[in-house]
Amino acid sequence: MEKLLVSHFQEAVSRMLSGFDHLPAFTPEYDADRISHILFEVAEKMKENYPFHHPLYAGQMLKPPHPVALLSYALAMFINPNNHAIDAGIASSKMEKEAVSAIAAMFGWAGGLGHLTGGGTIANLEALWVSGKIHPDKLIVASEQAHFTHKRICEVLKTGFESVPADMNGAMDIGYLENILKTSHVGTVVVTLGTTGCGKIDPLPEIIELQKAYKFRIHVDAAYGGYFKLVSNLSEKNSLAFDNIGKADSIVVDPHKHGLQPYGCGCILFKDSGVGKYYKHESPYTYFTSNELHLGEISLECSRAGASSVALWATQQYLPLIKGGEFAKNLEKSRKAAMTIFSWIESRDEFITFFEPDLDIIVFSLKGSSSKEISDLNRKMFDICAKSDLHLALLTLPRAIAGKHHDLEWNSDGLTCLRSCLMKPEHEDWAERIITLLQKSVSATVNP
Ligand SMILES: Cc1ncc(COP(=O)(O)O)c(C=O)c1O
Repeated sequence: MEKLLVSHFQEAVSRMLSGFDHLPAFTPEYDADRISHILFEVAEKMKENYPFHHPLYAGQMLKPPHPVALLSYALAMFINPNNHAIDAGIASSKMEKEAVSAIAAMFGWAGGLGHLTGGGTIANLEALWVSGKIHPDKLIVASEQAHFTHKRICEVLKTGFESVPADMNGAMDIGYLENILKTSHVGTVVVTLGTTGCGKIDPLPEIIELQKAYKFRIHVDAAYGGYFKLVSNLSEKNSLAFDNIGKADSIVVDPHKHGLQPYGCGCILFKDSGVGKYYKHESPYTYFTSNELHLGEISLECSRAGASSVALWATQQYLPLIKGGEFAKNLEKSRKAAMTIFSWIESRDEFITFFEPDLDIIVFSLKGSSSKEISDLNRKMFDICAKSDLHLALLTLPRAIAGKHHDLEWNSDGLTCLRSCLMKPEHEDWAERIITLLQKSVSATVNP
């Protein structure tokens, strides 16, 4: 980190703590030498990780927090606020309300109800919990390609759940959905805009049409893809899905995925603030200094890191959530990187592909005759890439998807493919280098 930022961080800590100068002096006790020693030990241990911060890490959904987020988070830690109650996090609760309103505004919502959560799973839990309160005896359905936690959340909530098969492109199959709607009582359809595995977009406009006939709630899980609402380089069809996102009843987006935040930052939004009644509870020991809304009154979790909202608020000051702004342009770079690398892969004889990337995740595979042979080759290439410092991920595509694109002998459960999340804006400039490494690795894999 730049020296200037480090010294400004120290200055910010003293400015913040000067707000408490009128109190009698007190010095916390600690042994600086031992802490330094342990810090260096931590530094050694952390070297064991893959280089998540570097553009050659293009594997799982991991993106480093922005320096403004990291420093603001660390600054807030000197106070360590808890946004459960205004009493425990006066400034950070206000920052959370502002930051969440900015996210709601990105989706075209003013008002409504929303707050930050520990992550996407908890945010989806809240959405489905409210869905279950509104339609206690009805099913919640989500695509087979939706995040695995939806099914598990329904188990926890003891709410009926059914999976909708995906089409050959990995999005929810609208025909299957309509069949389920005809034969079962569906209370909520979970629509994923940006599936975890393949980054695919469920057909939201068509699902909104079905809603007119079958009357269900729509919950959009945009934990991964939500911020792509701001970009201008998606396909027309996918842009239309994002244009319609505001018609949902609830939306989840994870600032700790594409929003440049440290982990521990998800967000749930409800269009109707009336759902606040389901959260009503008595907490005589927490809410006492203010009649204003305490975030714990509209959240399932109790303690939550106030520092998360401070970091998010600061990031949104630096990179406002506007179309054409720097934040949006950076996401467009990720998408361009995905398209550049995907086009190269498509131009090569050694590879097969299944579908175009909808966002910035690409899925591809080496050629071969059987599913097992191909899966083994892909695993081998994954290891060879890692040895040359290019870190990809693996993903098993079900036969129901992969088999519709390529005629293979099937002798394994699914097809293990290569997958890359090109989440960093730097990936655009690094695309050529990534292609060179892919080229070398593919030769080493198929002609060892
Ligand atoms: C679409 C989607 N929903 C939900 C989740 C779960 O979010 P979290 O890991 O923050 O709990 C993920 C995580 O990758 C996701 O991609």
